[in-house]
Amino acid sequence: MKQACLQLLMVAFQATLITMSSSAGLQYDFYSSSCPNAEQTVRNVVNGMIDADPTMPAAFLRLLFHDCFVMGCDASILLDPTKANGQPEKTAIPLRGYEAVNKIKAAVEDVCPGKVSCADILAFAARDSVARSGGFTFPIPSGRRDGTVSSAFSVFSGIPSPFFNAQQLIDSFAAKNLSVDDLVALSGAHSIGVSHCSAFANRLRPTVDPSLDPAYAAQLNATCPAGGADRAVNNSPVAPDALSNQYYRNALAGRVLLTSDAALLTRGDTAARVNASAADATAWMVRFAAAMVRMAGVEVLTGAQGEVRRLCNVTNS
Ligand code: HEM
Repeated sequence: MKQACLQLLMVAFQATLITMSSSAGLQYDFYSSSCPNAEQTVRNVVNGMIDADPTMPAAFLRLLFHDCFVMGCDASILLDPTKANGQPEKTAIPLRGYEAVNKIKAAVEDVCPGKVSCADILAFAARDSVARSGGFTFPIPSGRRDGTVSSAFSVFSGIPSPFFNAQQLIDSFAAKNLSVDDLVALSGAHSIGVSHCSAFANRLRPTVDPSLDPAYAAQLNATCPAGGADRAVNNSPVAPDALSNQYYRNALAGRVLLTSDAALLTRGDTAARVNASAADATAWMVRFAAAMVRMAGVEVLTGAQGEVRRLCNVTNS
């Protein structure tokens, strides 16, 4: 227990040092005077949701990734279709957790109406998800404003494909000013959650990808037969709700699902980072925390830009 607390402190401290200078116009404790209980309120609601459903951290983490990679971290992923905009981002790729974010927002509005943006709420929820599923926490700067534009058409140019090779993944992260370090560190999020058969069947048929462990490939083939249902398979065959460096050990053992996961072992620079992360859990936590803060700072709106939505699924006017 004492060791776990120390680990928490160390990760928080090191991640703060790494990220202090790269918070993209955001501020730590942005709500300290306008809504001092904002972060605690989010944390309480998120904790209750995770108690009820331990798969929620995966939902919040993936929502933040998809928000930030399409028009920046502006909560545009959360907007529902309207008469004027029938195809916002959320209609492009099915994601989970929208109702949950709306509920967190309602709890925050109860304590400080009109103060805390949905983009910040999503960033806090993802950070708190890491604390619960990974056992480490870190400060995340805030002050994001919510966007008013959301289009399904911008999703596929922003979100990397699971069929990408290493160079394409690196390019897609570079387009968001994120590094090779960030790519490899954040891919560790695939230690939790699920992928559907259709996202990795290309590695089973017509021939089995030789980088897959044969026993694991046989198991996947049984769960995902040709022409069968598009089942959900745990991203990690070990401890599937625990965010950890198990992902990198899975990768080294040929037990990751996506082409884009296996691709990290096809280049020297990415493979070296996979090896380092597999070998040192705490060093990976520090890198993951720093990369989360950087990802959550991609193309943010601040100051008088955008708005603070009253409801996360609709713009104010
Ligand atoms: C590196 C490029 C990435 C690609 C190509 C990618 C692709 C995918 C795909 C295809 C799925 C499965 C979707 C399905 O079949 O339902 C998935 C799941 C997931 N991804 Fe990624 N992803 C990437 C990076 C990230 C990042 C940066 C994060 C967060 C930090 C993330 C978090 C997750 C999580 C948590 C899940 C499981 C979601 C759930 O269980 O609902 N991914 N990803």
